Amino acid sequence: GTVVLAYSGGLDTSCILVWLQEQGYDVITYLANIGQDEDFEAARKKAESLGAKKMFIEDLQAEFVEQFIWPAVQANAIYEDRYLLGSSLARPCIARRQVQIARQEGAQFVSHGATGKGNDQIRFELTCYALYPEVQVIAPWRIPEFYSRFKGRDDLMKYAQEKGIPVPVSPKAPWSMDANLMHISYEAGILENPKTHRPSDLYLMTKNPEDSPNTPDVLEVEFLKGVPVKVTHLKEGRALDTPLQIFSYLNQIGGKHGVGRIDIVENRYIGMKSRGLYETPGGTILYHAHLDIETFTMDREVRRIKQGLGVKLSELIYYGYWFSPEFSFLQHCIEKSQEHVEGNVQISVFKGHVYVLGRQELTCELVSMNVQGDYDPGDASGFIKVNAVRLKEYHRLQGNAQPK
Ligand code: ARG
Ligand code: SIN
Repeated sequence: GTVVLAYSGGLDTSCILVWLQEQGYDVITYLANIGQDEDFEAARKKAESLGAKKMFIEDLQAEFVEQFIWPAVQANAIYEDRYLLGSSLARPCIARRQVQIARQEGAQFVSHGATGKGNDQIRFELTCYALYPEVQVIAPWRIPEFYSRFKGRDDLMKYAQEKGIPVPVSPKAPWSMDANLMHISYEAGILENPKTHRPSDLYLMTKNPEDSPNTPDVLEVEFLKGVPVKVTHLKEGRALDTPLQIFSYLNQIGGKHGVGRIDIVENRYIGMKSRGLYETPGGTILYHAHLDIETFTMDREVRRIKQGLGVKLSELIYYGYWFSPEFSFLQHCIEKSQEHVEGNVQISVFKGHVYVLGRQELTCELVSMNVQGDYDPGDASGFIKVNAVRLKEYHRLQGNAQPK
């Protein structure tokens, strides 16, 4: 049969590429460009030299921003209060195209290099099964013949040397990374121990705030229906208005000022805890700017319900349920809530922080700001007394109302 392998060009998936052929499969390789820093043409040559029947390099950057990052921005999506979900958002985007290719090429199988202990395997495969029900998934890291043969990097290196797979010349960082437009994640290896402090040169997208500029960049972000449609540098006058340009520019400014670094221990879906470090510069700027314009423009009670839905949506994203009925339901609700989330937020980006300086609504008259209108201060007396009824009763029962 034919298998479409999600191929990164690295040691693991190169070994998987050769191993799959040894098992008798024809292999088509697929590499998604979702904004990672990569020599795509070198990866193409490598895949073809290792026997790939075809190599697909797909530029998914724009759809990643518009169809995955933007809904996350609208939802203020965040997992366990800190993680902005960079890897979790990328997986359904990558896997969706993978099964499109598999269908188009008449391939019955798909394969990936995710381990058997992580979240990524779940996200990949739930997407594959949802969008291509007949597909069969080959996950080598869960196949005993594979993982008992490749117990560590040394085994992969040895196999690579035997099979003529070019081995990386520079020593590998002693941790695992996942890079895309939204973030770079760092975990496993020496980082697995939660006590271990990060090496000072770990982060690649963001500057250390200790070395970042001593003057802020002041930006204006314009939102329509809860998504950014324009970003302007207020001093330089530079303005960008396509999703990919906006997001890349925010990454650049956020990176320059060291914005969006976190070091956390998170709960994986499969039940274990995992220590991870993340840098999400543009995503962090948007998180703060969107929260601000949303709270400014949204009804209080709608906001409260929407906030709960956002927590649920974030969990679905993390767990891999992008293409589920419950996700679709929640996303519609959240989109509806964004109807009037329209306006500009002015922010200062400086020394690892995003400072909101001001905001202005675009479309709706903000009723609750107009204290004069319908509001009679005298009505507040009754409002407060009615609300005090319960409190009085509570303290009477506690015996607190008695004079001491
Ligand atoms: N722990 C993060 C998540 O589950 C990042 C996973 C990174 N993936 C990787 N292949 N290194 O979303
Ligand atoms: C992996 O195990 O493949 C990466 C980490 C994760 O998916 O959680």
